[in-house]
Amino acid sequence: MPAEPQKPSLYERLGGIYSISCVVDDLIDRVMTDARLNANPAVNEAHHKVPPPGFKYLVTEMVGWASGGPQKYTGRSMRESHEQMNITPKEWDAFMDDFQQSLDKFNVPAAEQAELKAIVQST
Ligand code: HEM
Repeated sequence: MPAEPQKPSLYERLGGIYSISCVVDDLIDRVMTDARLNANPAVNEAHHKVPPPGFKYLVTEMVGWASGGPQKYTGRSMRESHEQMNITPKEWDAFMDDFQQSLDKFNVPAAEQAELKAIVQST
């Protein structure tokens, strides 16, 4: 029986870590300066406490890991790092809007966009 053709992982279809890092770089720049998010004092405070390159590093690592790449996520759990922020549904929508803009800017195809959004929603 012929072997099933293997579908490339999401990581491969996104173009690997360099492509992922470019989207994350753009997304974090948007999120960290998003007035809709920084209106939340807990978010604003944390955004001015963590250096952007380190934050970008951790999110890049996480997306690499979650999309099937060889990376291992070494940061804190999403619950641990976000539970004190009291993120509201409106703030979540603002984040998803920033995310959409970054995905579109880098012309991420619809199928891969949907898979990435499902990963993000699951967090
Ligand atoms: C409204 C949505 C979100 C806001 C406002 C937000 C904000 C923040 C802030 C301010 C920090 C720094 C926390 C600190 O060190 O004190 C952080 C950490 C982090 N966030 Fe988010 N975040 C959001 C959603 C997400 C999502 C959807 C993901 C991933 C899919 C994510 C991934 C991370 C990671 C990897 C860290 C680093 C954890 C660590 O310090 O080890 N965040 N977030």
